[in-house]
Amino acid sequence: MSTTQNQLAVLFEGNGEISKFEALAERLNVPLRQSSEQNPEAFFLTWRDGELKLLDTELLRKGGLSVDISPRNGEQRSYPAPKEGAFAQAIGRKTKTVVDATTGWAQDSLCLFRMGYEVRCIERSPMMAELLTDAFERLTQELWVQKLELTPPVLLHGNAIELLKNLASPPDCIYLDPMFPPKRKKSALSKKTMTILQNVVGEDLDKTELFAAAFSATAKRVVVKSPDYAEPLGGKPTETFGSKLLRYDVYLKN
Ligand SMILES: C[S@@+](CC[C@H](N)C(=O)[O-])C[C@H]1O[C@@H](n2cnc3c(N)ncnc32)[C@H](O)[C@@H]1O
Repeated sequence: MSTTQNQLAVLFEGNGEISKFEALAERLNVPLRQSSEQNPEAFFLTWRDGELKLLDTELLRKGGLSVDISPRNGEQRSYPAPKEGAFAQAIGRKTKTVVDATTGWAQDSLCLFRMGYEVRCIERSPMMAELLTDAFERLTQELWVQKLELTPPVLLHGNAIELLKNLASPPDCIYLDPMFPPKRKKSALSKKTMTILQNVVGEDLDKTELFAAAFSATAKRVVVKSPDYAEPLGGKPTETFGSKLLRYDVYLKN
């Protein structure tokens, strides 16, 4: 499933303590490189501007991709942001606790966090888990998070199909946004963060099993984000919210 292992290296560009880079390379079991030239790897992790970043050959000069912890364009900046739109409708306004079992770049998790939901995150890609740990640490340093004494989402690293069986408390909602194959080349995946994730992590082929694990672990509902062309993951949903290109299928438990 993951194509990361032979394709990834940690890159030390001469800034900061090398021991931090060595430790990251050791945790991920990948080589540490001191130059991006003439290496067999296609992807690199490095700290730039105080953020852990993922680079591919195209991004080496452009800065790289980190988990963006700032509000999305147009999102209200006060906390909690209003529970508006199809996403919040699907999650449920009365929902308090959410497990995002497919965290990825955490844009959905962070949106839920800013709307005031209590969020736990699961991610199985070791590389993505490192990028997320770095991001949630940066989030604790944000002034508004400190002022409001908020606790950033808790990250669990591993396969959600296993981890969901052992949750300390069942959440009101389990959210799933697995990787679907693109309908056409250059379709919904045209955003660089998602294209690179597709290249690094690949398609999630065990989605059906994940849905079953989520449905038995949730207290109240499972929400699945799907492209318009995909069959509903858990059969006919109880209700659906969304637009033409994107659906949130909601499966209520009782
Ligand atoms: C499409 S991305 C999610 C994007 C995310 N919603 C966002 O806002 O950035 C899917 C992610 O889920 C992770 N994933 C898929 N199946 C998983 C599983 N069974 N357990 C844990 N993580 C999983 C993949 O590694 C990938 O990072």
